[in-house]
Amino acid sequence: MKLDLSHSMIKEHEFYARDLQKKVDEIHKNLHSADHSAGTTWVHFPLTYDKKELSKILKLAKHIEEDSDVLLVVGIGGSYLGAKAGISLLSKKSKVEVLFAGTSFDYSDLSQTLEAIKDKDITVNVVSKSGTTVEILVTLNIIERFMKNKYKNDYKKRMIFTTDREKGYLRARANQEGIETLSVPDNMGGRYSVLSAVGLLPFAVSGINVKKVLEGALQAYNDLDESDIEKNPAYRYAVYRYLLNRKLGKKIEFFASFSTKFAFFGDWLQQLFDESEGKDKKGIFVTSLTYSTDLHSVGQFIQQGSPIVAETFIDVKIPQKDNQVLNVPLGSPIKFLDNKFVSEISRAGFNGTIKAHSEAGVPIAIIEIDEINEFEYGYLVYFFEKACACSGYLLGVNPFNQPGVEQYKTYMKQNLID
Ligand code: PA5
Repeated sequence: MKLDLSHSMIKEHEFYARDLQKKVDEIHKNLHSADHSAGTTWVHFPLTYDKKELSKILKLAKHIEEDSDVLLVVGIGGSYLGAKAGISLLSKKSKVEVLFAGTSFDYSDLSQTLEAIKDKDITVNVVSKSGTTVEILVTLNIIERFMKNKYKNDYKKRMIFTTDREKGYLRARANQEGIETLSVPDNMGGRYSVLSAVGLLPFAVSGINVKKVLEGALQAYNDLDESDIEKNPAYRYAVYRYLLNRKLGKKIEFFASFSTKFAFFGDWLQQLFDESEGKDKKGIFVTSLTYSTDLHSVGQFIQQGSPIVAETFIDVKIPQKDNQVLNVPLGSPIKFLDNKFVSEISRAGFNGTIKAHSEAGVPIAIIEIDEINEFEYGYLVYFFEKACACSGYLLGVNPFNQPGVEQYKTYMKQNLID
């Protein structure tokens, strides 16, 4: 992975200012401290993860492969987005289809899913660290009825709860009713949990080599282990975001890729950054775009709208294997593309976009990876988690809580009780 800030509109020496380095030194010390109570278990996790839990995950995945056609994962926010992102990015062929539920109150989604899988064999994986999330418990209530109807009293053998090691409703139920469980490690919030059982079980079931994912994360852990901004691209990127906001007054960061496979990864990034940083009236609003589709919509705003946006590209260097060469007839308006590979056209689109948006004054960061694979996915996840944590602390907020999410839940509950 390489971070290119040559189009960032910030002079190189500004990244290494002494006051910023001092702040980052302090942040690094806190993140790497042995006390994880702030929510930092994920920092050392690629090194310290529970090997027995990994064996259990792999065993369960094998079992699911033998007796199920579908793994229905019930989770929301951090208990869903990373798994969905990894599966759609790595798109492996597998015997078992992994589907997701619990992500809204729109019952028509769930009823469609249940209708589509009613004649298949199903395992349900409920993922909720707190075990109190309303979307999840509502969905579980409906799915349990469906499973009971289908499998009678044996249905609980087809349920796995991924939840807190000790606390919460799901843990208590699992203990009482003998339901299989996996654990979300202590002091690891949802949006930093995809490399734990939260993501690893759905990954393993969908044919992803989870050991390679963890190897990628471990490589990132080792590469991003120093506080020196010059040597640590995760911290350099965090400092860049700080300067984007404070010096250039940018309020929106678009994560963009010319690879459509990054669409859900963009959703994961959106949650990681917005839920970590958007508090105390601070933060850059993060969202994601897929190019070239969004060049035909949001591209207009980026080029000529309010000058409040920055772009961060995830650029995959090696074209995918199913690349095609064009054979264009005379008279076609794209005759100039004759004998060109689609990947060459995409690369020209990428370079053209960088040039056009740079000329319009949009700061651009480019995160380059060689190809899409498990190792790179694990590396990217860890890179962004570390960058996001550092970025949040630089901004002066706690990147590991989400107090603002509670308000709608309080009002929703009041509406239902009144
Ligand atoms: O990142 C977070 O902490 C949140 O997005 C949670 O993952 C989300 O609210 C779901 O919570 P839980 O896993 O407790 O059901």
